[in-house]
Amino acid sequence: MKVMVIGNGAREHTLVWKIKQSPKVKELFAAPGNAGTAGIAQNLDIPATDIEALARAAEDLKIDLTVVGPEAPLAAGIVDVFQKRKLRIFGPTRAAAQIEASKVFSKNLMQKYGIPCARGEIFSSYSEARDYVKSHELPMVVKADGLAAGKGVTVASSRDQALQALSDAMEKKTLGDAGNKVIVEECFTGKEVSLLAFTDGKSVSPMVPACDYKRVFDNDEGPNTGGMGGYSPPGFFDQAMVDEAVRTVLEPAVRAMATEKTPYRGVLYAGLMLTADGIRVLEFNARFGDPETQVMLPRLKTDLVDIMLAVIDGKLGKMNIEWSPDPCVGVVMASAGYPGKYQVGFPITGLDKVDKDIMVFHAGTALKGGVVTNGGRVLTVVANGKTISEARSKIYSNISRIKFEGCHYRKDIAAREVN
Ligand code: AMP
Ligand code: GLY
Repeated sequence: MKVMVIGNGAREHTLVWKIKQSPKVKELFAAPGNAGTAGIAQNLDIPATDIEALARAAEDLKIDLTVVGPEAPLAAGIVDVFQKRKLRIFGPTRAAAQIEASKVFSKNLMQKYGIPCARGEIFSSYSEARDYVKSHELPMVVKADGLAAGKGVTVASSRDQALQALSDAMEKKTLGDAGNKVIVEECFTGKEVSLLAFTDGKSVSPMVPACDYKRVFDNDEGPNTGGMGGYSPPGFFDQAMVDEAVRTVLEPAVRAMATEKTPYRGVLYAGLMLTADGIRVLEFNARFGDPETQVMLPRLKTDLVDIMLAVIDGKLGKMNIEWSPDPCVGVVMASAGYPGKYQVGFPITGLDKVDKDIMVFHAGTALKGGVVTNGGRVLTVVANGKTISEARSKIYSNISRIKFEGCHYRKDIAAREVN
């Protein structure tokens, strides 16, 4: 088979790396990919959002399977375009991807079908939202409806903060159309966990749970990022909880999507919080997580291509998917200044100096003579072990061998096994 992976992050490098392990795969492409995917696949110089060019490449190269990493092309309807052109593609349609692309859609779905989530009100009028916020108890959460690259959610501990978030989204339009509607909802407290599942629209096969770290500095200080590291599995989320989340969240969501005539196929990602009252949904995503994928796929024993074909063909129910019990930890190395402004183009050295069992997944890297930095998050360094602490000590004894100017990373990933 010829397989193409769309995207250029460490998530996509991990997907390419895992797909390459399938004996079915003879040729592998990444669009646009990075220096890491260039080592194991052929990079195509096409942006992940240029759907027409991607479809043309899939036709010209006779790609048998396309796998979509990021949310933007899914929300823009890449799966619909490929399906119309009889090209095989893994991911939800545009209508189904609304579960991530519109928080109003997913809130309505959850409320209609009794999927446990925060009580929330939806607004398309700024003045009505403002009045509501003025009387809502604190803290509260203000969420922009649309895709906002992680900037659409404000957990407000003061009324001024909530009003500011509302004004930014609805009045100043700092998030563009994503802020045309907002949700104001109750604020939960508890530990967060990402539980992803493969689904063919009928069967749901949960993956191993994982946690990510969103803040840039140790002890969860500093601004939010795209993710500074992660681990799988979290000790606080055991098999009984996975089973409960499948029964109360993932299966009802997949059934609801079918009932609503937006059948869901692909990876369904539930962002969950373990509250004092039980498991609650914070959000759904329509794709693999980043950095969760980097610590989950190394644990997958079953051929990922077989799983993806079963999902597309509606035969997931016949598959037995196996995972390794060995935990996995991943630490992100980032550019100086990230998540604010940063420079790129610094040479990365020492990639060949890490121990053989260390996995280095590239994100913002490019080949310019050698491997150079080309983004905010540069690498995810991953190790597995018999325990979380074994995996994390492997990483921290290797990571300083990799060097680039201004590099920073968190020292406390999986240290307390909570976040
Ligand atoms: P979301 O994009 O909806 O997952 O929100 C991003 C982050 O905001 C989550 O990972 C949580 O840390 C936080 N969050 C979202 N909704 C809530 C809520 N109802 N209560 C507390 N925290 C929340
Ligand atoms: N790790 C959060 C996400 O992928 O959305």
